[in-house]
Amino acid sequence: MQVAEDYNAWASAYDTVMNKTRDLEGVALRDMLGALSFRSVLEAGCGTGKNTSFFVDRAEHVLSVDFSAAMLAQAKEKIKSEKVEFKQADLMHAWTFLDRQVDLISFSLVLEHIPDLSTIFKNAYNTLNPGGYLYLGELHPFKQYAGSKARFETASGETRVLDCFTHHVSDYFNAAVKAGFICESLQEWFDDDAVHLPRVLTIVFRKPK
Ligand SMILES: C[S@@+](CC[C@H](N)C(=O)[O-])C[C@H]1O[C@@H](n2cnc3c(N)ncnc32)[C@H](O)[C@@H]1O
Repeated sequence: MQVAEDYNAWASAYDTVMNKTRDLEGVALRDMLGALSFRSVLEAGCGTGKNTSFFVDRAEHVLSVDFSAAMLAQAKEKIKSEKVEFKQADLMHAWTFLDRQVDLISFSLVLEHIPDLSTIFKNAYNTLNPGGYLYLGELHPFKQYAGSKARFETASGETRVLDCFTHHVSDYFNAAVKAGFICESLQEWFDDDAVHLPRVLTIVFRKPK
């Protein structure tokens, strides 16, 4: 799987290189979900654990899943809570990594690598308790229209551009509604110094009670 291999190659530098999208999504997630608490959370595509500690502070149990062994290794190095379980799995396969229903599923900068939103959102719906939340924080599609893509520099100085799919705002909305979700809130997040395109899109959906 090329995307997993690319993240394996990016993992050791992911936290330290400048990355405005990574940082702004972290701010956005904390703003969107900061008032909530949960029994159980599924962090889908946890990467190096940028948001894991936030969930640890707000949940009794956090399952953090990623298909990149090297990204997971970075996360495990950082997050030492007994509340967290890390598992290596591909979100595009059956969600056999689950052993419980959850109150929140988060996708931070993950869905751009996943072509089929409808299967993912159906799995999410079936995994959530009634009243549960689905959060997504993604590179804004307007940025993608302008050519932005996840990319990093390898140790040898080569720029590697990852495989990404453009999901329009309506794609997220329609796939979630089709799966049964209600849209609770939608926000667009801009760089401090930018007056043009929003960088990050966040949406909170909810499974009806
Ligand atoms: C840009 S990183 C984001 C990591 C973290 N959520 C954050 O906000 O910093 C995307 C992560 O999604 C993971 N990912 C992408 N597609 C995936 C899939 N199909 N199954 C599991 N993990 C996936 C990658 O391995 C990578 O760690």
